[in-house]
Amino acid sequence: DDLEELAAELRDAETAVALTGAGISAPSDVPTFRGDDGVWDRFDEGQFTYGRFQRDPSGFWADRLELQRELFGGNPEPNTAHEALAALGKDGTLEAVLTQNTDGLHADAADAITDGSEAESATILELHGNARRVRCVDCGNRRASGPIFERAAEGELPPLCECGGHYKPDVVLFGEQLPGAVIQRARSFAREADVFLAIGSSLVVEPAASLPKLAAENGGIVGIVNLESTPRDGIADVVRRDDVAEVLPRLRDLIVA
Ligand code: OAD
Repeated sequence: DDLEELAAELRDAETAVALTGAGISAPSDVPTFRGDDGVWDRFDEGQFTYGRFQRDPSGFWADRLELQRELFGGNPEPNTAHEALAALGKDGTLEAVLTQNTDGLHADAADAITDGSEAESATILELHGNARRVRCVDCGNRRASGPIFERAAEGELPPLCECGGHYKPDVVLFGEQLPGAVIQRARSFAREADVFLAIGSSLVVEPAASLPKLAAENGGIVGIVNLESTPRDGIADVVRRDDVAEVLPRLRDLIVA
């Protein structure tokens, strides 16, 4: 079937690349943004823009604290889909994981099977940053976000860096550009890919949403695994409407079989 076909393509690929979205962390109980029970039905997307952060940092932080709890309050851990990709990275099948997620779970899964050796892991590119960190917009200092969110919860709104600057969650906000170097690397992985898998993403947020197209235009085979249809299904060679936690371990088994 088409999963076996995808497994065969992955086995033969010189460069295989995965792009992931919120759907891959859904089985870890991190809610998605869109689709069934998405957080943008409960939170106003328009309140989490870079413009709001600049205009009203206190209000931004108060809302972001609630969003952070909603997304990561359950202390999520990697699931079988993260683990399958980490294993494919370790055995050399997968060159890179480009992720829109800010939960750090791909790195956790890779660390767990490589004892933290980055040389044995696929390259993990966190396109939208990492919500476990904050960054001072003035001095650039980065820190773990946990204690900073605690200070916000205790009423320090907005939480300030020692230098007096504002901390911002170290994630890409709406209205903010992705760092140029990051998107360039992502595009070059997409162009190089013989096989490009888009996993658990609605593929509506740019520039990530265009990476599968870039891969296809450069001769790559594109596979999409997502519960719902996406605007990129038309350019894909294989589309699976499956639960990632079920299908990715199966794909990995087929590859190593
Ligand atoms: P979305 O929430 O837009 O899409 C997640 C997709 O995963 C949906 O289409 C679901 O159908 C699918 N899904 C859910 N559970 C699944 C499962 N178990 N197996 C397979 N598929 C499943 O998430 P993203 O595409 O990642 O941006 O969203 C992109 C960006 O929009 C996010 O990075 C965030 C958001 O606003 C920023 O924060 C900048």
